[in-house]
Amino acid sequence: MSLSRTYGATGITVSLLGFGAGHIGGPDFTEGECGAFLHGVLDAGITLVDTARGYGRSEERIGRHLAGRRAEFTLSTKVGYGVEGHEDWTHACVAAGVDRALKIMRTDHLDIVHLHSCPREVLVQGDVIEALAKAKAAGKVRALAYSGENEALDFALASGRFDGVQCSLNFCDQRVLSQGLPAARRHGLGLIAKRPLANAPWLWAERPVGEYCEEYWVRLRAMGLDPRDLGWQEMALRFATFQDGVSSCIVGTTKLTHLEANGRILQKGPLPPEQVAEIRAAFAAHGAGWDGQV
Ligand SMILES: NC(=O)c1ccc[n+]([C@@H]2O[C@H](COP(=O)([O-])OP(=O)(O)OC[C@H]3O[C@@H](n4cnc5c(N)ncnc54)[C@H](OP(=O)(O)O)[C@@H]3O)[C@@H](O)[C@H]2O)c1
Repeated sequence: MSLSRTYGATGITVSLLGFGAGHIGGPDFTEGECGAFLHGVLDAGITLVDTARGYGRSEERIGRHLAGRRAEFTLSTKVGYGVEGHEDWTHACVAAGVDRALKIMRTDHLDIVHLHSCPREVLVQGDVIEALAKAKAAGKVRALAYSGENEALDFALASGRFDGVQCSLNFCDQRVLSQGLPAARRHGLGLIAKRPLANAPWLWAERPVGEYCEEYWVRLRAMGLDPRDLGWQEMALRFATFQDGVSSCIVGTTKLTHLEANGRILQKGPLPPEQVAEIRAAFAAHGAGWDGQV
């Protein structure tokens, strides 16, 4: 079984298990630990690294530690905000955000660049998409992408302007299975599935008030699923990753042991069809009004 996919029609190849670099930007890691960890990610066979302007020191650290191995991985980032001297969500901010990302990650090109949770009305206006298209024409960016959920995601998918999208896809967040994923397949777009473990809500005995996974914790309880002998981790990961049309599933972690365990899980392939059907049915029965979570 191949554990890599092509990203839509771009010709870019990505490992089915990607690395979500959202957790490596904080102060918990020393630079030495972070460098060893990032090299371990590539040594484990991961060829998609996903970061963003908003992930603290994540981009800076990827540049510092992995610039010498740039040819070995597909680099995905997100722009649209947070560039000094530019108003967020403007043409100038996106253009400068691409240049900033190139510089801080010490590279001459970015493989996939997402507009990061760009509001629908800004997308409709068109300027920020144009800025990204110009960066692609200039050879700075290989693939134009949108990252977000719900109506904005639907607009991006139908717009014909993007090469791919990134959106939440996990057993507690299945909206995209009935809407976004079929559209992405129809239009030949790449799709990166984020939050594939639903941020592991089963680790919390009590409702994790204010935590990122709180909404998924509520949904997990409501759905009444039983992962049986697989355990939640394996059930969640195999469910999300092997949906038809998913190019890569980006799991966030700061532990190589977890990354390697996730790789071993994916070697097992898709869940049995009856278990997939059970998970889909639980969402259909309880998920009315459950939007995609940013
Ligand atoms: N575009 C966006 O707006 C957006 C939003 C959210 C996320 N993302 C991207 O998607 C990536 C993934 O999302 P996420 O990190 O929020 O959620 P996730 O991948 O669903 O869950 C991450 C959590 O799972 C734990 N975990 C991972 N492997 C494990 C294992 N084998 N055993 C036990 N626990 C394990 C991690 O803890 P440990 O560190 O202990 O392993 C971490 O707390 C992010 O890193 C980021 O790149 C993008």
